Amino acid sequence: MCYYVHFTICFLFYNVIISYGFMQGKTVIQEVFKWKQISYDFDGVLYNTNTNYERNAVGAQNNSEINDADKFFIQYNNVPIGMEVYEDRVFITVPRRRHGIPSTLNYVRLTGNNSPALKPYPDTGSRKEFVSVYRPRVDVCGRLWMVDTGHLEVPGERKQIQPPAIVVFDLKTNEQLLRYELKPSDLVNNRSSAGLTSITVDVTRDNCEDAYAYINDLATEGMVVFSMKARNSWRLDHRSFVHDDSAMNFTAAGYVINWKDGLFSIALSEPDSEGKRRAFYHPLVSTQEFSIDTEYLKDSKKFLGLNTYLGDRGSNTQSGSHDYHAPSRTMFYANVAQDAILCWNIDTNMAPNNVVVVAQSPKKLAYISDLKVIGDHVWVLVNQIPKFIYSTFDTNDYNYFIHRLKIRDLIRGTVCDVRGF
Ligand SMILES: *[C@@H]1O[C@H](CO)[C@@H](O)[C@H](O)[C@H]1NC(C)=O
Ligand SMILES: *[C@@H]1O[C@H](CO)[C@@H](O)[C@H](O)[C@H]1NC(C)=O
Ligand SMILES: *[C@@H]1O[C@H](CO)[C@@H](O)[C@H](O)[C@H]1NC(C)=O
Repeated sequence: MCYYVHFTICFLFYNVIISYGFMQGKTVIQEVFKWKQISYDFDGVLYNTNTNYERNAVGAQNNSEINDADKFFIQYNNVPIGMEVYEDRVFITVPRRRHGIPSTLNYVRLTGNNSPALKPYPDTGSRKEFVSVYRPRVDVCGRLWMVDTGHLEVPGERKQIQPPAIVVFDLKTNEQLLRYELKPSDLVNNRSSAGLTSITVDVTRDNCEDAYAYINDLATEGMVVFSMKARNSWRLDHRSFVHDDSAMNFTAAGYVINWKDGLFSIALSEPDSEGKRRAFYHPLVSTQEFSIDTEYLKDSKKFLGLNTYLGDRGSNTQSGSHDYHAPSRTMFYANVAQDAILCWNIDTNMAPNNVVVVAQSPKKLAYISDLKVIGDHVWVLVNQIPKFIYSTFDTNDYNYFIHRLKIRDLIRGTVCDVRGF
């Protein structure tokens, strides 16, 4: 497109496009998937409409009086919440917060179909093995980590089906490497397990067995740490894990949110010259950010009493997931209170003027439920969950999205682009 003689004009034109894209918050959002409603593919059998029984199931009969609790698939209730990417596979979780969810841990392939049916991972048997999985994580050793909360979270019918557990798969062989049940001392009460909604893995490629995992507990506002080598876990409690009452009642996807969610997301820096990482974290209902060297998380006795306050991000910066891009030293936030993505360069002070909106769309970023940095892109899963909770989806319209955004386009010309990435 750009001929040599027209270089200057092309360059100007290019800049106009970029600024337009940035101001509109549209052009840089690349659509990967979008769904009106979720469908499933169980070994080639497509479920794309309400179905009382699993087809071919032994003893299945046509009984239209069946209770919701016993129904195989109630399509409307299937809201995707977590996401992760590994090569050409995109993992998508559907926690069991209503009846009629056939499979909580699923994947699709990046093949060109932009509304694919979800397939259970690693196979159809997993639908009965796992109860409720939120935000999984792929580590540098090619493993998929998750917490199965074991908790059926249907309003008015909450039930702990099995103990919450950390589960790890080898993504090359799809074999389960680990299932570790959390200890009663990792939890506060019978609400804690439903709050285990993300997992962050601290490991290097040259020492895969010596991995630590940091799990948020947003319900009873704490952190659970797991050592793979020691096969042990412990709970940390700290005032910085607790939501901030004065940050309540923000608007997300058009609805006022009065939840009291504590610790929501933990993101790690790259290791420094001594191999130490920093963990950055925040409650959902808060505009503050906290940070701590991970060595303090690895030793339960060291942590209590430390001051971990880093700074305030500014008004309306309540955010869910966040993730770090090492080449640009930038943190990206799923800013649910502005239907936006925020950036912050970790070499700058944590203060409102260093935390800026880099993409915003009341339609395409209406409640970013998960956000991951994959290579040089930010990936987001958008699900408008406040609308599901407080109103009703229009099932003729697209309700769930996965988008990709190029980091270079997002941060160019902003305060986050300190090093000219
Ligand atoms: C199941 O039964 C209902 C009501 O008796 C009937 O309307 C429906 O067609 C039946 N479905 C199948 C698949 O047989
Ligand atoms: C949790 O415990 C409370 C009382 O301590 C009880 O009323 C409630 O039914 C329990 N909920 C679950 C899901 O077990
Ligand atoms: C949030 O709303 C509740 C109920 O209306 C109110 O009691 C509370 O003071 C509000 N908090 C803030 C920080 O606005």
